[in-house]
Amino acid sequence: MNYGETRTYLEQYGQEHLLKYYDELPEDGQAALLEQIASIDFSMLSLLAGYKQGTSARGVFSPLGAVTVEEIDEKREAFESAGIEALKAGKTAAVLLAGGQGTRLGFDHPKGMYNIGETRELFIFECLINNLMDVVNRTGTYVPLYIMTSEINHEETVGFFTAHDMFGYSKDHIRFFKQEMAPCVGYDGRILMEDKGRIAVSPNGNGGWFTSMMKAGLVEDMEARGVEYLSAFSVDNVCQRINDPKWVGAVLQSGCDVGAKVVRKADPNERVGVLCLEDGHPSICEYYEMTEEMITLKDEKGALLYNFGVILNYMFRLDKLKAIAAERMPVHIVEKKIPHLGDDGSFVKPEAPNGYKFELLILDMIHLMDTCLPYEVVRSREFAPIKNPTGVDSVVSAKALLAENGVAL
Ligand code: UTP
Repeated sequence: MNYGETRTYLEQYGQEHLLKYYDELPEDGQAALLEQIASIDFSMLSLLAGYKQGTSARGVFSPLGAVTVEEIDEKREAFESAGIEALKAGKTAAVLLAGGQGTRLGFDHPKGMYNIGETRELFIFECLINNLMDVVNRTGTYVPLYIMTSEINHEETVGFFTAHDMFGYSKDHIRFFKQEMAPCVGYDGRILMEDKGRIAVSPNGNGGWFTSMMKAGLVEDMEARGVEYLSAFSVDNVCQRINDPKWVGAVLQSGCDVGAKVVRKADPNERVGVLCLEDGHPSICEYYEMTEEMITLKDEKGALLYNFGVILNYMFRLDKLKAIAAERMPVHIVEKKIPHLGDDGSFVKPEAPNGYKFELLILDMIHLMDTCLPYEVVRSREFAPIKNPTGVDSVVSAKALLAENGVAL
C-alpha cells in the first residue's frame, strides 16, 4: 500500500494518527512504517467493543482427573521402553516458548539469559538444554529443538546461544523462529506509537507458536525428520524434564491428542489453572474462574476433583496440531503498561496499566483437542518457574529447588 491507500485504509478504523509524523521521517523510515501498518491485523480492534475485564463466555466444566505419580510408577517400565523407542526413532521434537517479555522478572534481556548460578554461571537457557541433554545422553539421539523468539528478543537470543556454542547441543538440531506481533492499544482504542516511525507492538502470546512455525516452513522440517509428537514448554521452569522417556511413552500409549504435565495443587485455593473438561473437551479453568463448589468438590474417597494444575509443558500429536491450525483461536485482551509516544511527541513510560495487548494462549489449543492425558509430575522435581525476582515462583524459590535436585549453583 502506498501513502494514500494506507491513509484511506486507516481512516476506516479511526487510526489515521499513525501517520501523524510521516512527513518528518526519512524515506526508508516512511517505507518501514507503511510496511508495518500493512502487516497489522486491524480486525482485532473490533474485539475491544465487547471487552469487559475478566469476562469470557465459558461452557460447562467437569473434572478430568490425572494419571497419578503412583500409577506412573507402576507402569514405569512399559512407559519408558515405549518412550525410548520413539525417541530413538526420532519421533519427537520440542518447542521452547521464549518469545515472552518476562516483565515481572524485570530483567532487561531475554529471560533465558538470566544467570541463576552462584559460584558459577548457570543461565536459564543452559538449565533447559542440560535437562534435554539428559534425554539425548540416555537415547543417543538428538531431539530437534525449535526455539520461539519475538522481534524484540530474536537477535539477542540467537547471539547468546551462538556465543555459548548452543550450550553443547547439536546446532544441526536447533532452529530459531520468530512469533508474530500484535499492536498495543490505549484505553481510548487508538493504537499507540513506540516512536514517530513505529507502531508499539508486543508478542502475540504463547498460543500462536504453531502457526508461526508453519509460516516459517518448520512443519515441513519436522515431517522430513519423521517427527510425530511435539512438546511445547515454557522458558522459565528450570527443573522441568523435557521429552523424558516415561512421559513420551505415556502420551504415545494413551492415544490422546495431547498430554499435559500437571502438579497436584499445593492447597485448594492455589492460583493455578486446573486441567478439566469443558463441554466434554479438555480445557483449563483459571483459578479466578473456579466457583467455591468446584474448589471444594471431592470424590467418594475424599480427594479433590479439580486438583491438577498445568505447568506449561505439553506434548501434542503433530497431525492434530495441523488439523486445528486453520481454526480461529480466541484473542485475549490483557491490560498492561505500554511505553509509548505521548500526544505532545514525548516518550511516556507509564507506572500503571494504560492500555491493552492482544494475546493468543496455548490453553485454547488444548481445548481444540478431543482428548488429553493429564500426567502428574512431582512438584518438587519438576516445577520451579521463575516469574519474579523474589517470593513465590521466583529466582529464590527456583534456586532452592534446583539445589534440592542436586544441581550445583
Ligand atoms: P508468561 O505468561 O509468564 O509471560 O509466559 P512472560 O511474558 O514470559 O512474563 P511476564 O508475564 O511479562 O512476567 C509463559 C511462557 O510463554 C512464553 C514465555 O516466554 C514463557 O515461556 N511466551 C509468552 C511467549 O513465548 N510469547 C508470548 O507472547 C508470551
